[in-house]
Amino acid sequence: MKTRITELFGIQHPIIQGGMHFVGFAELAAAVSNAGGLGIITGLTQKTPELLAREIAKCREMTDKPFGVNLTFLPTFSAPPYPEYIQAIIEGGVKAVETAGRNPQAYMDQMKAAGIKVIHKCTSVRHSLKAEAIGCDAVSVDGFECGGHPGEDDIPNFILLPRAAEELKIPFVASGGMADGRSLVAALALGAEGINMGTRFIATQEAPVHENVKQAIVAASELDTRLIMRSLRNTERVLMNEGVKRVLEIEREKGDAITIDDIHDQVAGIYPKVMIDGDMQSGAWSCGMVAGLIHDVPSCKALIDRIMSEAHELITGRLARFDRG
Ligand SMILES: Cc1cc2nc3c(=O)[nH]c(=O)nc-3n(C[C@H](O)[C@H](O)[C@H](O)COP(=O)(O)O)c2cc1C
Repeated sequence: MKTRITELFGIQHPIIQGGMHFVGFAELAAAVSNAGGLGIITGLTQKTPELLAREIAKCREMTDKPFGVNLTFLPTFSAPPYPEYIQAIIEGGVKAVETAGRNPQAYMDQMKAAGIKVIHKCTSVRHSLKAEAIGCDAVSVDGFECGGHPGEDDIPNFILLPRAAEELKIPFVASGGMADGRSLVAALALGAEGINMGTRFIATQEAPVHENVKQAIVAASELDTRLIMRSLRNTERVLMNEGVKRVLEIEREKGDAITIDDIHDQVAGIYPKVMIDGDMQSGAWSCGMVAGLIHDVPSCKALIDRIMSEAHELITGRLARFDRG
């Protein structure tokens, strides 16, 4: 399938694997790219720019296809050394960067000068337009359904995607709630040029996470995620567990007086415990409502091939039938 996104990134299928903390290692990124999508290494999971350089080199050994790096710009005072991370990306010959979080404007010149295509993840039309204005090549429009940080507007993709299509000139992918051929075809109908998936790619053979995580996603329904940290204006969609129950209790008790210190134990340093140790009750980790649509743990290739063949059948079969009057 050819879209403005496949053309932009030089990939076969319009499917991107979004950056995911302690999930987006070389193994997953390479598997997605080898299957014809765009795999993405999560930059900040690598503690230093040197370690990121090594992860990029490892990925390069595992695939000769294009892959990208996610750089999440955190709302923090002790910012990671972003220019050095970007230098590692440039020196590693990576030509696609998924930015997220804060506005990446300060780093655009450095990336553009190296010929990098930048796709910025946005949860609103106004942020998407800002990304377009500062020179991003594409945006990943993340609806309210998404795993991770859906922003504070709570607009689901059935509204957000066509609104983005009304306003944007640069291409965008639909992110949040995407799982299968139906998602892809719906996203294309709503104006997107492809899809970005997070949660779905965790439940794959190659995702280098503990088996418990994959099984938790398969077992979860669409009712099993919760939003936390709303009163801190850092809303995150996570899978319900004992740690998350505790966060919700503390949030109820403290109300607007809550600070990050009140929930530190349930939200800080949790990813290695969950993703590496498989300790599923330890605290908050991002997961999308789309868990309700995930029933198996295929290889990335089987997943992507299935999405593309389902999409083809939907377009040429079911949808074409409706057009025959
Ligand atoms: C476990 C997990 C960790 C994530 N970590 C990050 C991250 O570090 N940076 C980022 O930009 N997005 C992160 N995301 C968001 C994904 O890249 C993607 O936008 C989101 O998962 C899309 O929604 P979906 O899960 O419904 O597919 C994470 C998502 C999950 C599920």
